[in-house]
Order: sequence, then structure tokens, then C-alpha cells
Amino acid sequence: MKGSLERLKEEALVLIDKAPDDQELISVKARYLGKKGEITAIMKEMGSLSPSERPAFGQLVNVVKDTLEDAFTRRLLSIKKSATLDSLKKEKVDITLPGRRVLVGKRHPLSIVMDEVVGIFTRIGFSVADGPEIETDYYNFEALNIPRDHPARDMQDTFYISEDIVLRTHTSPVQIRTMERQAPPIRIIAPGAVYRCDSDVTHSPMFHQVEGLIVDKGISFGDLKGILKTFVGEMFGEDVSLRFRPSFFPFTEPSAEVDIQCVLCRGDGCRVCSGTGWLEIMGCGMVDPAVFGFVKYDPEIYTGFAFGMGIERIAMLKYKINDIRLFFENDIRFLNQF
Ligand code: FA5
Ligand code: MG
Repeated sequence: MKGSLERLKEEALVLIDKAPDDQELISVKARYLGKKGEITAIMKEMGSLSPSERPAFGQLVNVVKDTLEDAFTRRLLSIKKSATLDSLKKEKVDITLPGRRVLVGKRHPLSIVMDEVVGIFTRIGFSVADGPEIETDYYNFEALNIPRDHPARDMQDTFYISEDIVLRTHTSPVQIRTMERQAPPIRIIAPGAVYRCDSDVTHSPMFHQVEGLIVDKGISFGDLKGILKTFVGEMFGEDVSLRFRPSFFPFTEPSAEVDIQCVLCRGDGCRVCSGTGWLEIMGCGMVDPAVFGFVKYDPEIYTGFAFGMGIERIAMLKYKINDIRLFFENDIRFLNQF
């Protein structure tokens, strides 16, 4: 019995040292010291020994058990330690590597310019209105004094959704929607996207306008000039010239187009200004009494002016960009510059 106890001890010590992980170690422990373990079984046989032999054997069993418990504890610690070392090795961080750059988004140049335009006008007392991009023929044309079959419809190449529904070709329908909703005085701007079947270096099929409308008693063309001069001065600086060119819009009378000196060539002529030295940035004029008729304002009491400017054109001038299509290509190298 003593011999087999010694043998079991040696056997267990070898297995303990070889156990690769704590799972294996636990099962080795159960095999020798567990309830049904081999050493436990030998202890149960102690009854067959003579009373004089019993104490000495009992002591021996205790020594073997202590030795094995010790060995288990030591092995368990060393398994845990090497597992920690392993994971340290695996999860090693190379602190000499360059850091990972956080990519920060930027605002699109058109949003920057749009916000700047809206900021200038709201500071001088305009409030912001809006309307739908999918518009009825009535608001986009009829109520702006552009009847069906009127040649002025050819001025704007329209995307038709159905005979009566269009993608708005300008922000001017917001004038009508606003005047229908409220009585004068009115002082609004209406920024937004508009659509035309049109595409070259200065024309895009989708572009942005900011509409402006003032209606009150005693509004004159002088007020229009004053407001637009203030706007151009704030946007481009006091030294940039602007000119009013007589023009025609069915919804204003008299009408004008506003050009500013081409800041790309400083007036010498380039491809952006088609060699003229000037770039058209907006249309404007005094609200036509016929338009007041559609919204039931009395033209004997009220007068007003309206304007509609192209945001892309303003952004091109501001940032000296010579092709409108760059705004919509989403080339990150282009967009990163603003
Ligand atoms: C109009 O759209 C009128 N609704 C403006 C207006 C409003 C006049 C209120 C009177 C009173 P026009 O078609 O000229 O006008 O366009 C106005 C501006 O939009 C132009 O000066 C130009 O800056 C810009 N624009 C016109 N077409 C395009 C296009 N395809 N791509 C980019 N910008 C454009
Ligand atoms: Mg025009």
C-alpha cells in the first residue's frame, strides 16, 4: 500500500508538471485527490491495516496530499503567469508607429457661401422662407406672370414631372407662397436648390439660388440698389464694382441683371466671364403689379422689389473657381481646400 501511494505521488507530480493549462490541471487533480480519486481510494483501504500501522500510514497520506496540493498551486500560478506573458506579447503595442489621423469632415463650399449670404441678409433684417423643390406650374410660372405659351418660358429649360408639375426652375415661386400666406410688410429671403436642363462651365442642371423679396409702402428701385450694393460690399469687399444691366423678367418691371466685376481676371476677360470682364450673379427688379394681382395685394398701396441670385456663381467668384462642375464632383482634393 505504501508502495502504491509513492508510485501514485510520482505519477501525479509528472502529470502536474506537464499540464499545459488550468483545465488539464484541474482534471489531473480530480483524478488523484477528487472524491473518486486514486489517492482517496487508497485512504478508504486504511481500514484493512492493523491499528499499529494506521497512524504512520495516515501521516504518510497527509504528507503526499500536501505535496500534491503544493505542486498544483505552484503549477497553476506558473500557468497563469505564462498566459499573461503570452497575451502581453500578442497584444504588444508598437509605440513608435505614427498615430492614426482622425478624418474631420468639412462643410461644402456651397454651404459656406450659402450661409454667408443668408447671414448678411438676416443681419439687415430679412427672415428666411422656403418652399418645395417639386413645384406646380402655377407657382413656378403662372402666378409669376408667365402664362402657358409665353415665350419667357423658353428662358428656363424646365424639367417637367407632368404637365402641371415641374422641378422648380428658380426660387421665385416662394415669393408667391409667402405673399399668399401673409400681408405686407414682407422682407424675406428664400435659399434653396433649383433645376434646369442646362450644363456647361457656368451652368449646372441643379444649382442654388437665394431669392429676396421686400414689399411695403413706398419701396423704390433706390432701396433695391442700396440693399444689393450693401450685399456685394459685404460679400466681396467694397472695392469690387457692380453694375445694373436693363433686362426682362415677366414678374418684375422694370427688371435688371446685376453683374459684378470678374474677380478671376479683374475685368480683363477670361473663360469664366466669357471674355467680358463681368459675371452675372442675379436678376432683380420691382415686383410687377400683375404679380400682386395673383396674391391680392393692392398695387396702388404697395410696391416691392425682388431679386434672385445664383449661389454657385458667387462661390466661383469668391474662391476663384473656373468650372461650376467642380462643386458637384465630390473630389476630396477639391473639397479639402475650403
Ligand atoms: C431667375 O431665375 C429669376 N427668378 C431671378 C429673379 C428673381 C429676377 C426675382 C427678378 C426678381 P435667371 O434665370 O437669370 O433669373 O437666374 C438667376 C441667377 O441664377 C443667374 O444670375 C445665375 O447666377 C444663376 N443661374 C442661372 N442658371 C444657372 C445654372 N444653370 N447654373 C448655375 N447658376 C445659374
Ligand atoms: Mg439670367
